[in-house]
Amino acid sequence: MSAFPATRLRRFRRTGALRELVRETRLDLRDFVYPLFACPGTGVEKPLEGLAGIAQQSVDRLADEAEQLMGLGIGAVLLFGIPAERDEAASGAYDEDGIVQQALRALVERTPNMVLLTDVCLCEYMSHGHCGVVDGDEIVNDLSLELLAKTAVSHAEAGAHAVCPSDMMDGRVGAIRGALDSESFEQVPIVSYAAKAASAFYGPFREAAESAPSFGDRRSYQMDPANAREALRECELDLQEGADALMIKPALPSLDVIAAARARFDVPIFAYNVSGEYAMVKAAAARGWLDERTAAMESLTAVKRAGADVIVSYWAKELAGWL
Ligand code: PBG
Repeated sequence: MSAFPATRLRRFRRTGALRELVRETRLDLRDFVYPLFACPGTGVEKPLEGLAGIAQQSVDRLADEAEQLMGLGIGAVLLFGIPAERDEAASGAYDEDGIVQQALRALVERTPNMVLLTDVCLCEYMSHGHCGVVDGDEIVNDLSLELLAKTAVSHAEAGAHAVCPSDMMDGRVGAIRGALDSESFEQVPIVSYAAKAASAFYGPFREAAESAPSFGDRRSYQMDPANAREALRECELDLQEGADALMIKPALPSLDVIAAARARFDVPIFAYNVSGEYAMVKAAAARGWLDERTAAMESLTAVKRAGADVIVSYWAKELAGWL
């Protein structure tokens, strides 16, 4: 086949119907997970400044929202908790009556068909806001594992369908798998945030979860965003430790990692379209600089095209109206 003029790629771009027919990547609401933030109280709804359209909600409100989400066709949520109190042992993370555990029990009851994923991390529950146990200015790896494992088990006990460790300590997947299995939760999968970069794009989330570290930063445990080969080693090790699926984050700045992980590992690949990716578009759209719907759909399509099977996104709810 000769090139131009015999070949004209514009032929299939001529009409919307032709473009629709040959489109390679489509967004499907069933591939989306919507993040929810549970906070103490009743009837509480605290809109988040940096995450337009998203709010911290008390458990009763979350249950209402979950019902609404099911009605829209969103069948999976990722739960985060904002506890009333924090301490040096992150007790609220694995408290039987902790905020996420309460939310889980309420959602299991109200929306039994909703897939309930939980973020397993200590930062929201630690007085210092780090994802692990602190000694001086060190984040101590091995001591953190026990707390993370206890947290995962308590989520499973409260009804989580899958746990998602996001702390980036070495060995946490193995520790969590061992603890889940010894408590008879061998059926609960681990979606590991395997390749999580120390990213500036988590900024709005830290306001939402009130989890900014009080000293230093997360660069001694989260990955250097410059390293793609190391990201694949993280994925490989987590699979060896028993991860059932891999999560890569942030999404848009990591499209190469998503594509490489897709090619290399035959497990479900999740991508987290994080708070900053969402907030940037929201802020620009609010100023009339771009069209939010088109920019959001283009972002999410790029993440899917790179190879993500599942996308965690703050746009999931709006997407239901757009699709
Ligand atoms: C908890 C956690 C974070 C995010 C998900 N889980 C924050 C962080 O690591 O600082 C970020 C999510 C987002 O930005 O939307 N460790």
